[in-house]
Amino acid sequence: MAKSGCEIARFLYCSGVFEEEVAKTYNHIAETTVVMNVKVFLKYIADDSYKHAKMFKALSGYPLSFDKSCFEDCEKVLGGLWKNITENSKKIQEKSEINNHELLKLIDGLEKFEGFVAEEYLTALNIKTIELMTLETGLNLEPYRMIFEWIIEDEKRHGQILKTIRNLIIRSTSQS
Ligand SMILES: [Fe+2]
Ligand SMILES: [Fe+2]
Repeated sequence: MAKSGCEIARFLYCSGVFEEEVAKTYNHIAETTVVMNVKVFLKYIADDSYKHAKMFKALSGYPLSFDKSCFEDCEKVLGGLWKNITENSKKIQEKSEINNHELLKLIDGLEKFEGFVAEEYLTALNIKTIELMTLETGLNLEPYRMIFEWIIEDEKRHGQILKTIRNLIIRSTSQS
């Protein structure tokens, strides 16, 4: 858990880098899938993730400016989560075609992943973090807390969208 201002900034920045990777992965799956409705939903999640990336990066520069060293080693900051998504997204981005069976497996994995991300962000957004940020900056950090909460809501919605996608794939498979 982030303890100092620098650590909080690093967590936010790395989450931004991470969300960018997630967005690319969703976009790639959207482009390789042939089921039209599934494509639209995946694009929706991809766009949300790009938005999260932008927000996290903006928040990471929150009102203090930090030393460059605060923004290194995202791999260490996010640990297993980082390794998991970068390895998987590389594999996914190499695929030029994804059949329905593979897609269903992917969706299962992504669903677990979305739940995990929501938990992770929820942990980061504990009262202590906000208190510390307020103490260090002397600013009203309510807007930051709100944005963080919206992102967590988005992540929960991503899980629901993936459930919808799974049903669409199953239906399209049984029709063909
Ligand atoms: Fe996200
Ligand atoms: Fe998400």
